[in-house]
Amino acid sequence: MEYRVFDWGAICRLALVPGCPGRDPGRFAWQSRSIQSPGKRLWDRHPEQFATSPTGYQSVFGASNASNTAPLPWGRRLFTTWDAGRPIELHPGTLEFVAEVGHRDSWGGSSLDMPGVLPFLLSSAHPVVDPDRDCMWTAKLDFAMEPSFGLRPAIVRYDQSDGTQVRFWPLEGIVFGGSMHTISQTRDWLILADSGNFKVDPAELFGGERELTIDDEVPVWLVRKEQLEGLPSGTPITPISLMMAPPSGHFYARWEDAEGISVVWEGMDHMDLGLYLKPDDLDVNGNPVDPASVGLYNMAMGPETIVEVQFEPESGKVVERGLCREDWTFNLQLSAMDWSVEGMTNPTLHHVTYQGCRPGNISQRAAKLYEGRIDLDQLREATPGSLATFERGSMELKQRWEYPDLGDHITSPTFAPRSCETDASRSAYAGAKPGGHDGYVVQPVLSDDGFRVELFDASAVGHGPIAVLKGTNRECVPLVLHSAWMPAHDELVDAERLRFSDELTDELMAAVPHNFHGAIHAVADECDELVDPRS
Ligand SMILES: [Fe+2]
Repeated sequence: MEYRVFDWGAICRLALVPGCPGRDPGRFAWQSRSIQSPGKRLWDRHPEQFATSPTGYQSVFGASNASNTAPLPWGRRLFTTWDAGRPIELHPGTLEFVAEVGHRDSWGGSSLDMPGVLPFLLSSAHPVVDPDRDCMWTAKLDFAMEPSFGLRPAIVRYDQSDGTQVRFWPLEGIVFGGSMHTISQTRDWLILADSGNFKVDPAELFGGERELTIDDEVPVWLVRKEQLEGLPSGTPITPISLMMAPPSGHFYARWEDAEGISVVWEGMDHMDLGLYLKPDDLDVNGNPVDPASVGLYNMAMGPETIVEVQFEPESGKVVERGLCREDWTFNLQLSAMDWSVEGMTNPTLHHVTYQGCRPGNISQRAAKLYEGRIDLDQLREATPGSLATFERGSMELKQRWEYPDLGDHITSPTFAPRSCETDASRSAYAGAKPGGHDGYVVQPVLSDDGFRVELFDASAVGHGPIAVLKGTNRECVPLVLHSAWMPAHDELVDAERLRFSDELTDELMAAVPHNFHGAIHAVADECDELVDPRS
């Protein structure tokens, strides 16, 4: 079976001003490129050696990095990410693969001991960039068999100055059964959580039927950043633990934490991302599942909750400050916010895409697994998607734009500030009035009638798009997960970077049949050239 959300990643870059160099003055430049990781390059040469699994492609070469989930800008550098691989740096101008982040040994080795030159590294799809320390924080998960089957998390830090290395600190005594899709931060704290919506089912891994279901609440772990200062890599640390409901894929803390840890928690109630649609599935209305949807995840089985909470490290309490859950809040997809330091310090508006109820993408098999926890009568009819704006703090709904065409698949919105003029006192990403209200929400919409990009005034989303861009031939693009805005940079900055060849020890090579060594060396030569074209 194919697992389409784990297929190879690709990235597209859209210029938000027309007439880029070398282009027609009335057109907007669009570039797209597949993520040419070493694993992808080996697949191009020997596709017959790769097989799909619930955690991506496995092969005689090891586990390949699809890096298919999110773009992550960091100053003038651009990375892509994935839960089952290291972050990958791309050339921001050409979108070409440049390097993976951190030598496999500095990550503490593969998450599960397996042979091959491609490590299996479970990580987070949403690392976070720390503006005070100029570092990236992310996570690594190791499989554990004791005290029960699960994952042991570690915090991972990548400093620009570390070049080819990362450092990691395991969370003492923690084993859990989900994933760690997002890392968030305040000035002083790191916030980690069991995303809970994606669980690897051992029965399914070994060819059986999926039986595991997601929980109704998940653990959250808080770690003070200063706890890690000067602590040797590999040293376990003890986090503060608390519980939060519902499970969530994405959550975002306010940078300023003098008055507590304030977090927007985008709930994914009854959304099980580990459940895939199969070719012989019937949907909740008894109709065969659309073959085009086979391999995609089973969509939400109830409306979803967005909530702003305050985590209290001293008491372990969670204080609710504002919440929204309505009949239309199905399939809370993704959100847009002002990612500048100023915007994260004093956020004003939070923009969220909801895809609406999609009964055709909910299987009877899933409904049976969740019997008693969901209301089937709520899942019979498809409902429109929405782009909604909430006020930070209260989570009061301020604006909403509805997409009545059920053929529209609205995906990751992005905030772009109105103006990014050069005020030296502000961070590079900040507009004149930071917070999320003064600028634009850029909304990609997938449709069989052609992919389009809609532009909204961030302060008036309910008025509808103020501009729409689309191709001239109803061009379609594959499934888009996340998007991000960054100022236009076309040059690769100088930095020390990992080379694929740095990891090719005799021991690792010996685990791969000799007839494939030529391909590995050819890929290493190609990748070395990209890391340092002058060598
Ligand atoms: Fe995500």
